[in-house]
Amino acid sequence: MTAAGQTAAGVALRITDVGMRFGGLWALSDVSFDVEHGSVLGLIGPNGSGKTTLMNVVSGVYKPTTGSVTYDGRRIADVPTHAVCHLGIARTFQVVKPFASLTVRENVAVGAMYGRYGGKRSTRASFERAQELLEFVGLARVAERAASDLTIPDRKRLEVAKALALDPDVLLLDEVMAGLNATEVEEALELLRDVNRRGVTLIVVEHLMKAIVSISTTIVVLAEGRKIAQGAPADVLASPQVIEAYLGSRWVKRQEQLRIIAAEREEAARMHPPEAGA
Ligand SMILES: Nc1ncnc2c1ncn2[C@@H]1O[C@H](COP(=O)(O)OP(=O)(O)O)[C@@H](O)[C@H]1O
Ligand SMILES: [Mg+2]
Repeated sequence: MTAAGQTAAGVALRITDVGMRFGGLWALSDVSFDVEHGSVLGLIGPNGSGKTTLMNVVSGVYKPTTGSVTYDGRRIADVPTHAVCHLGIARTFQVVKPFASLTVRENVAVGAMYGRYGGKRSTRASFERAQELLEFVGLARVAERAASDLTIPDRKRLEVAKALALDPDVLLLDEVMAGLNATEVEEALELLRDVNRRGVTLIVVEHLMKAIVSISTTIVVLAEGRKIAQGAPADVLASPQVIEAYLGSRWVKRQEQLRIIAAEREEAARMHPPEAGA
C-alpha cells in the first residue's frame, strides 16, 4: 500500500473549514481536523465554545454554513439526517432523551432494530443484542424498568447502550460523565475504553479534565468557535494559549486569591511577630 493510501485508510472523519452561523452568531469558524480510525478524540472548550454544535454538524443534525465533514470520504451533509447512523456514526445527547414509557430493554432494542444492521436483524435478534449491551454497560439489573425511573448515572449508561445498539464505527459522546461521582466516572471511563478497544472511534466532549486527559489520544480545544489547539493531551494542557483561554478566568482568580492570602499572612506576621526561638 502507498503512503497516501495508508493515510486515507487512517482517517475516519475529516472536518474541513467548518463554519456554523446562527443568525448573527458564528458558533463555529474555520474548524478543521481529522479523526483517525480507532482513536479517541477529546473535544474541550469553555461553555458556549461550539462543542455541541460541532457534534451536531458531525452527526448530520446541522448542515454547516461553510466547509464540510466527510466520513470515509463521503460528505455527511449529502446524507439525510436519519440515515447518518447507517453510515456508522452514532451519538449520545447532552440532554438525555430516552423513550420514557418504554422499558430500558425496549429502548436499546429499538436502536438495534433501526441502526446500521437493523434491517438485517429480526425483532428477536434485536432483543438479544439489547441484552448483550445491557450486560456490557451494567444495566441488565434494571432491564424491565421504565427508562424514566432510572437514576442519572444509569440514564447515561442507557444513552451509551442505545448509541452502541446502532453498531457505530464512530461514537460521539456529549458530556456523558456530567453529574457522575468519582467512582462512576472511573466506571464510565473503563466502559468507554472497552468500547474503543472493540474498534469504535470515539469523540468525547467532557468538562472533566482528568477524564479527558486519561482517555484521549488527541485533544482539540475550541474557544469562541475556533480551534485554538490540537495535540497530545500533555502538550495541549501545557500550551499557554489553552491555559489563558480555557483555564483562564478560574486560574487567574485563584492566583489572585493566593496573593491576597499571602499578603494577609505577611500583614499578620508584622502585627504579631513570632516569639524569638518559636
Ligand atoms: N440552535 C441554536 N440556535 C442559536 N444559537 C445556538 C444554537 N445552538 C447553539 N447556539 C449558540 O452557539 C454557541 C455554541 O453553543 P454550543 O455548541 O452549545 O456550545 P458548547 O457545547 O461548547 O457549550 C452558543 O453561543 C450557543 O448559544
Ligand atoms: Mg454542549
